[in-house]
Amino acid sequence: MRPPREPFRIKMVEPVRPTTRAERERALEEAGSNLFQLSARDVELDLLTDSGTGAMSQEQWAALLRGDESYAGSRSFARFREAVNEVLGFPLVVPAHQGRGAESIFFGAVIDPGEIVPSNAHFDTTRAHIELRQGVALDLPVPESLDPEGEEPFKGNMDTEGLAELLDGPDAERVSIVMLTITNNAGGGQPVSLANIHEVARLAHEHGKKFVLDIARFAENAWFVQAREPGYSETPIQQIVREMMGEADAVLMSAKKDALTNIGGFVAISEDEEFFHRLQARGIVFEGFPTYGGLAGRDLEAIAVGLREVLEESYLRYRIEQVAYLGSVLEENGASVLHPFGGHAIYLNAAAMLPHIPAEHFPAQALACALYLAGGVRGVEIGSVMAGRDPISGENRRPPLELVRLAVPRRVYTARQLDQAGDATAAVLEKAEDVRGLELISEAPVLRHFTARFRTLS
Ligand code: F0G
Repeated sequence: MRPPREPFRIKMVEPVRPTTRAERERALEEAGSNLFQLSARDVELDLLTDSGTGAMSQEQWAALLRGDESYAGSRSFARFREAVNEVLGFPLVVPAHQGRGAESIFFGAVIDPGEIVPSNAHFDTTRAHIELRQGVALDLPVPESLDPEGEEPFKGNMDTEGLAELLDGPDAERVSIVMLTITNNAGGGQPVSLANIHEVARLAHEHGKKFVLDIARFAENAWFVQAREPGYSETPIQQIVREMMGEADAVLMSAKKDALTNIGGFVAISEDEEFFHRLQARGIVFEGFPTYGGLAGRDLEAIAVGLREVLEESYLRYRIEQVAYLGSVLEENGASVLHPFGGHAIYLNAAAMLPHIPAEHFPAQALACALYLAGGVRGVEIGSVMAGRDPISGENRRPPLELVRLAVPRRVYTARQLDQAGDATAAVLEKAEDVRGLELISEAPVLRHFTARFRTLS
């Protein structure tokens, strides 16, 4: 596959420092085999996340200068609110410093202890916010999402039969909101179809529950709907976005993804002034006055521009095709990769690539470390380490798949740089049996993957 042609040229550059294998070995040792603990200067190709790592456009940088830094009533907030309403259709918005700030505002206002929150699959911070309030974050992915090779177009969908069973069953009283994450990050960056969104919303509303979308990657999801869902190939992206949003009572956004900024987030709702004031009140305590919410006025300006820019067809085509290019390069080099390719990342199936390492020795963490040692490439484990422990039993959770995610920052790397991930994969697979499993030597009680330390087994 040829890489897509970039719909931009480069106006500012950031040097990348070459590293040697010996330097990387030392760095990884000091980091306790946890790639989150590396210094970024020791990384050559940083595919840790697509969150807040993108390059802003000249229009976004220009908008920064218009930032109105007034504490109250900032004009930047008015422009931000207008963009949220125009693009997404929600007039009532509470800004936050990032997605998890929005989660904290929202879940603090809606979750009672014991409450069950069903979703296609919760992202780790979403799960943490629900569990911090003694809620139960319940994943109901479609069964086909667990088959790493199937080519079903919408593996991010929720299992609506499972949802109906829950909402008709004895635990229905414990549910007040039903969620979908678009695209489904924890489930391989896979999209959710509009048919599934409509059906989940219908079930939620029929049972008197609120329907909430995590829209961190809404534009990428809309692209897949246009490309794959029957009946939408001629529908403009903007219209697909509005159809997705039209079902939701509330949306949670991390602007660090599909608002093309380095920081920011928000909760938005369509009506219910009373609930809005409750959200605002929580926002004031945790994030800041409702017209800045933990952000500078200039950040709000960049989000307003990014929300419109992300819908441009030339951008979205390049974005999705660049990620697919990475997927094809990895496969050419022997990697076992989740199919279809995700919207923001490629997910390596570590259990298949390192079959000699059992789940209790963290094969995906071992693979992520090996790729770093081989080529200075940083990915992230999405397997037994990230899954953490069950908050009640304290047992290690066992996720269905052991994955390494290689997420592509938006508008940052060239195709030649992405090729380095292919070279590193080939080098690791050539001596796959030399890669050793890991043992945890320290971990935090919540979101342990950020700070855990490991020892390599001999
Ligand atoms: N929801 C989804 C679907 C996410 O992917 C993320 C973050 C969040 C919420 C939280 O947003 O980081 O702004 O607080 N995902 C990043 C990632 C960290 O690497 O996938 P945040």
